[in-house]
Amino acid sequence: MSSHYDDVYARSIDDPIGFWAEAAEEIHWYKKWKKILDDSNKPFYRWFAGAEVNTCYNAVDRHVANGHGDRIALIYDSPVTQTIQSFTFSELGISVAKCAGALALLGVSKGDRVIIYMPMIPEAVIAMLATARLGAIHSVVFGGFASHELAVRIDDARPKVVLTASCGIEPGRLVAYKPLVDTAIGMAKHKPEKCVVYQRSIQRSEMKPGVDLDWDEILVSATPHDCVPVAATDPLYILYTSGTTGQPKGIVRDNGGYLVALHWTMGRIYDVKPGEVYWAASDIGWVVGHSYIVYAPLIYGCTTVLFEGKPVGTPDAGVYWRVISQHHVVCLFTAPTAFRAIKREDPQGGLIRKYDLSKFRTLFLAGERLDPDTLGWAEDLLTRSRYGQTSNTKVPVIDHWWQTETGWPISANCVGLGKLPVKPGSATKPVPGWQIDVVNDTGGPAKPKEIGNLVCKLPLPPGALSTLWNADSRYQESYLSEFPGYYKTGDAGFVDEDGYLFVMTRTDDVINVAGHRLSTGALEEVLASHPDVAECAVVGVADSLKGQVPLGFLVLKAGVDPEREGEIVQQTVTMVRERIGPVAAFKTAIIVKRLPKTRSGKILRGTMQRIAERQDYKLPATIDDPAALQEIHDALDRLRAS
Ligand code: COA
Ligand code: AMP
Repeated sequence: MSSHYDDVYARSIDDPIGFWAEAAEEIHWYKKWKKILDDSNKPFYRWFAGAEVNTCYNAVDRHVANGHGDRIALIYDSPVTQTIQSFTFSELGISVAKCAGALALLGVSKGDRVIIYMPMIPEAVIAMLATARLGAIHSVVFGGFASHELAVRIDDARPKVVLTASCGIEPGRLVAYKPLVDTAIGMAKHKPEKCVVYQRSIQRSEMKPGVDLDWDEILVSATPHDCVPVAATDPLYILYTSGTTGQPKGIVRDNGGYLVALHWTMGRIYDVKPGEVYWAASDIGWVVGHSYIVYAPLIYGCTTVLFEGKPVGTPDAGVYWRVISQHHVVCLFTAPTAFRAIKREDPQGGLIRKYDLSKFRTLFLAGERLDPDTLGWAEDLLTRSRYGQTSNTKVPVIDHWWQTETGWPISANCVGLGKLPVKPGSATKPVPGWQIDVVNDTGGPAKPKEIGNLVCKLPLPPGALSTLWNADSRYQESYLSEFPGYYKTGDAGFVDEDGYLFVMTRTDDVINVAGHRLSTGALEEVLASHPDVAECAVVGVADSLKGQVPLGFLVLKAGVDPEREGEIVQQTVTMVRERIGPVAAFKTAIIVKRLPKTRSGKILRGTMQRIAERQDYKLPATIDDPAALQEIHDALDRLRAS
């Protein structure tokens, strides 16, 4: 099929109002909009102002009402508990309506916040949809975050209720969620009224009388609750993401714009049809999980797969092929790190031969740049498995770029509009609706192929963040003030002669560990709180599996006994695990006498990173004490030797 990407893209930019009005016809509205785009309070834009809608209705009830109640909505595939369970749209609807009824009995209503801290189990999806059904606002917190991070989110979102489960299951260990929640509530200033616990049979948790409620018990007595119409511009959820400080940013997502945008993407980007099986192998705690495990596939009438496992070790590196084959998945979306993990365990792809992948069409990857090696390996493997050794037809492997803030891809190969040629290393072209420019630090246009700041012209399309929770001015300062008229993505890259976009690196102190975004500033705050640490720096260092891993540099206070250095390093590793969470993968810190700085006192993190990665670097002209760099070299040599 020849691509009509160019025409569709041009229309989305020339006539955004007409473009999105047409897309909005595919959504169920209780009341249509007064204005497609309300720009009366710039730079705060609102899509579908005046409209009323319910996201849960569109994701579940609408399909039942349209006669698709028997279609499978959700397949829960959990190799860690050896469970496979399917829910039709009707069954999902009954569970969600009951859960909404139970939440309503606890006093949750439109606009209230509900924190969901749960593993990858169907009850987590049910909880999200039930919250949306009531017009309340969910904030899902990833299970790999520790109590302190959860407490920060509780204080910011001020939830009425917290929903959790007794445990999560990580390879080789159970993670008791409930004690983490108890500690977080203990730390937080805001005290949620109730904590509802889903007790998993593998490990039950103790309950606090008067505060804790058993999920099953409250659902038994609940009556199903109907969908509550909300303004299209009302928030559906808050999702926290790392900023450059320890205070995470609460990304606010609306209902109406998000519905329209997500529905549009399923056919045009991912090239799937209602009724087909779509699998995003991520976690509901991340934006990919919100958009492409829960909302987009369900809104579009696809079957979504909820996978509780890892790409390797549950039980082996063939599990992704097993899931694709067993459930007839046509499209998989995951992070490059997952494919690198599979490649490391099974480089020849022996395990894929056990499975029939004849239904599989496309692999989408995001979360970090897709390195050309992984792209080539995945393409060869999938193509050989699907079409045989000598085929000219290839299974497309598509890199696409997006962020928690944007909610859906900014740049992609929109396969549903007709695939464009794939260029390894590139996230192809802007998705319709997104106008991307590359600018230098003073805001002028970067030269062709010159790396610059990637910025998106305002107004952003529907579904992108509308603000930060209770922090309108932080929203403006973080994203809108540096390049007036644009949203600053915080990423840097370039556009080549064919208009292909290459996203290369972050421009701030955010690093990307196994597809998870982390702030080095937040890690430094934890290290600096150790009583023996005078000064510290954290940099992200290239890692062949996780993309990047954090590495800490510590300067100890005068008089600390050198014999205690090993113990102090170990204590900082534990502190990060306890304060931020195991997901930070902070395993190494080295002790140095001083940190290299500029004459104005700025720590030369970029240079330290290049030294740690054994890359060439230029001696910064403004360096205060060049000998400090030699110390970094020596400390890293000692680390490598040990
Ligand atoms: N709850 C509790 N702990 C969790 C967790 C969760 N939901 N998720 C991860 N962790 C823990 C892990 O157990 C691990 O702890 P450990 O230090 O005791 O081993 C730590 O956090 C790091 O986990 P992870 O990032 O999963 O790394 P890993 O080394 O165990 O596995 C990969 C490596 C590549 C297999 C894994 O990172 C992966 O599957 N990545 C895909 C990421 C992804 O889908 N990202 C979504 C963006 S689209
Ligand atoms: P998150 O908000 O956690 O989804 O992380 C978003 C960040 O991940 C982006 O700002 C990029 O730095 C990075 N990222 C996501 N997808 C890509 C991609 N396809 N190529 C390069 N970087 C990516």
